[in-house]
Amino acid sequence: MTSRRDFLKTSAGVSVGAAVGMGSPRSLAGAPAVLRSRITPVAIASGNGMEAVATAFQAVSAGDDTLDAAVKGVNIVERDPNDRSVGYGGRPNLDGVVQLDSSVMHGPSRGAGAVACLEGIKTPSRVAVDVMRYTDHVLLVGKGAQRFAVSMGHKVEDLLTDATRRQWIEWRARMSATDDYLTREEAGTGADPFEDGEDEGLGMLDSHDGVRPQGTINCNVINQDGDLSGVTTTSGLAWKIPGRVGDSPIVGAGLYVDNDVGACGSTGRGEAVIKTCGSHSVVELMRSGMSPVDACLEALRRVVTFTAEARLRDGQGRPNYNVNYYAVNKDGEYGGAAIWSGARFAVCTGGESRREDSAYLFERGS
Ligand code: GLY
Repeated sequence: MTSRRDFLKTSAGVSVGAAVGMGSPRSLAGAPAVLRSRITPVAIASGNGMEAVATAFQAVSAGDDTLDAAVKGVNIVERDPNDRSVGYGGRPNLDGVVQLDSSVMHGPSRGAGAVACLEGIKTPSRVAVDVMRYTDHVLLVGKGAQRFAVSMGHKVEDLLTDATRRQWIEWRARMSATDDYLTREEAGTGADPFEDGEDEGLGMLDSHDGVRPQGTINCNVINQDGDLSGVTTTSGLAWKIPGRVGDSPIVGAGLYVDNDVGACGSTGRGEAVIKTCGSHSVVELMRSGMSPVDACLEALRRVVTFTAEARLRDGQGRPNYNVNYYAVNKDGEYGGAAIWSGARFAVCTGGESRREDSAYLFERGS
């Protein structure tokens, strides 16, 4: 019986062979003469993915499969306790529990895998890969996802760090002035002598200013043969209702890859991306001939149109939140766009990683 692994090898071979085409001239040694020009490999990610794109680019340049390369890249961020939006050290839900979402898509094999509401596993993207490679399913959630992860050898650990626990405790105390939880100021007892490390303060985490922290990493990779893969991974919306699933593990929303066309992923308000099938829309727009940047901008216009709720619009009717898309097409052209100006994405081409400005629909402060 042909194993999935054999199939992946075979399909990668088919992809290269197909690029040569029937009746291609052959070299004297019998090897096919490759007519299609080689693509310059690209790794593109959200702004928090500088190390991720460098690692993914290095891996794909060394011959790694595009999905393995992308996942290696985001694993750095998933394991980093200082990134509060992804994996270990990600901000918890309403109950103080870190619940992670992730999806992967492998272009050459048309494979997809995802996990949602997964607790206790630092690298949900690897579990998503296992769902793709070792099951007949695409999406596993909650306890079932964790049981599957453990069966595949993943370790269950406490993902809450001292810093994120302190933020959650502070947020809980600010939720209501009439419950029994106190902020430090309300308690008036000064600093906690048993606390380790720096206190970041809540700043943007104040539940009363309407701003909720929301981060994620998406990384998409194309190799020199034009094969594409992508991964999106997140701890989702901070302080979310337990069980809330964002766009990241939803194939077509937080990630979409079509090996014939391109790849796209998203960060930002997941609900808006789910409602507009965001990443799938971007890929379909690229299929119709749009550049990656124009496709991202058009998909963002749809997000704006779908923002009907007054509570989600500013005084001029524009979304009071952000969504970002990151896309690369089959020719290795890439780009990013956001609803609001000021967003940046990470990219590595030719061995050099850098941040570039995302295109946008609205200028901040306008
Ligand atoms: N885009 C990440 C989330 O909404 O969960």
